[in-house]
Amino acid sequence: MAYIKVARVLCLLIVAALLSVPVVSAQTPAGVPTVKRTVAPNVRPDSGVEMYKAYCAACHGADGKGHGPAAPAMKVMPTDLTVLAKNNGGKFPVKNVEDILRFGSPLASHGSADMPTWGATFRVMGDEAITKMRISNLIDHMESLQVK
Ligand code: HEC
Repeated sequence: MAYIKVARVLCLLIVAALLSVPVVSAQTPAGVPTVKRTVAPNVRPDSGVEMYKAYCAACHGADGKGHGPAAPAMKVMPTDLTVLAKNNGGKFPVKNVEDILRFGSPLASHGSADMPTWGATFRVMGDEAITKMRISNLIDHMESLQVK
């Protein structure tokens, strides 16, 4: 019985993989949350704060430090997004982050990453202008979270 349940959850993961945000559904006894992927809601593209809350905080945490409720279920811990500038000589790596959001994390090609490819998801929600607006407002919000 338990086996059938697991198989069904895996199917959901695969079907929804391109268009997904994690929703933390239940705590297992070991304290590792069960993460269910669901279709990403169409949150207004002009608010970086709202999009970050809906699309990123489950993994990266509301404060960006990488300790969101879904983080313990990840194979690789979500990156601490507050030190991206600090680790890049004090300059926020806009182009690099934009590429990761559009095309996915470089780690994904090795099959080890949980970071979704947002470009594909955003293009389903709107045209290129809206996708650009989403990415740019998300980047503005991430820049506002940087430690000095
Ligand atoms: C399902 C969990 C999950 C969600 C949701 C998620 N991320 Fe990630 N993210 C990760 C993990 C895990 C990594 C680290 C591994 C990797 O880079 O692939 C990561 C890495 C990153 C990196 C790379 C940092 C670097 O340069 O090393 C950026 C930038 C990032 N995420 C931004 C975002 C933004 C913005 C959102 C929301 C639009 C988001 N992430 C949503 C899990 C997630």
